[in-house]
Amino acid sequence: MKITIMGRGNMGKAIGHNLAMGNEVAYYGSHDTVQEFGDLVILAVPYPALASIAKQYQQELKGKVVVDITNPLNFKTWDELVVPADSSAAQQLQTALPDSQVLKAFNTNFAATLMSGKVGQNVTTVLVAGDDDDAKQVLKDALAQSPLRVMDAGKLKRARELEAVGFMQMTLAASKQIGWDGGFGLNA
Ligand SMILES: NC(=O)c1ccc[n+]([C@@H]2O[C@H](COP(=O)([O-])OP(=O)(O)OC[C@H]3O[C@@H](n4cnc5c(N)ncnc54)[C@H](OP(=O)(O)O)[C@@H]3O)[C@@H](O)[C@H]2O)c1
Repeated sequence: MKITIMGRGNMGKAIGHNLAMGNEVAYYGSHDTVQEFGDLVILAVPYPALASIAKQYQQELKGKVVVDITNPLNFKTWDELVVPADSSAAQQLQTALPDSQVLKAFNTNFAATLMSGKVGQNVTTVLVAGDDDDAKQVLKDALAQSPLRVMDAGKLKRARELEAVGFMQMTLAASKQIGWDGGFGLNA
């Protein structure tokens, strides 16, 4: 499968490390123009970049599976999410890209746990929310040769809960109660 990753930072590299197992991955940074998108597009960028990417590439992203991985924190206060309490970054992205299949995934995984494939003794689990079952299967298939486990977290509405989990995990690490190579683990 051809996969496009927007963002060459910590998460772009860590997600790409896994997706490169069995797929063709192309990376783009903030100064690049994408000529052709793969069937699966990972937006490994800060939350504020989602709106500008959606505006720039709305046509090109039609029919694509687009994955939002952001944790939309207020980084000045570290005390709130900047999206409305009854919504999420992923739902906002779906509104901005009505003809794409938007998924929320990877936001509850620290980059180090995607690189190692482990959270403590647990296999790193990628929680995926989205309204389109076929789109979720595309992501699952793309990760099939990686060591990561994929779990269906439900409809895109669940992105709100995933963003809350990501927020909580970040505050635990920022206050040094867990490491940035740790986090929530799941026993299946
Ligand atoms: N780090 C984690 O463990 C972690 C865990 C879960 C979720 N997340 C989420 O993952 C996202 C990325 O985090 P990160 O840690 O990878 O950040 P990062 O290391 O700062 O990387 C962000 C990357 O996004 C690129 N970028 C910004 N705007 C772009 C655009 N319009 N088009 C293409 N690329 C663009 C930046 O490129 P330039 O340097 O060229 O500007 C940079 O390479 C964030 O939303 C974060 O909340 C992170």
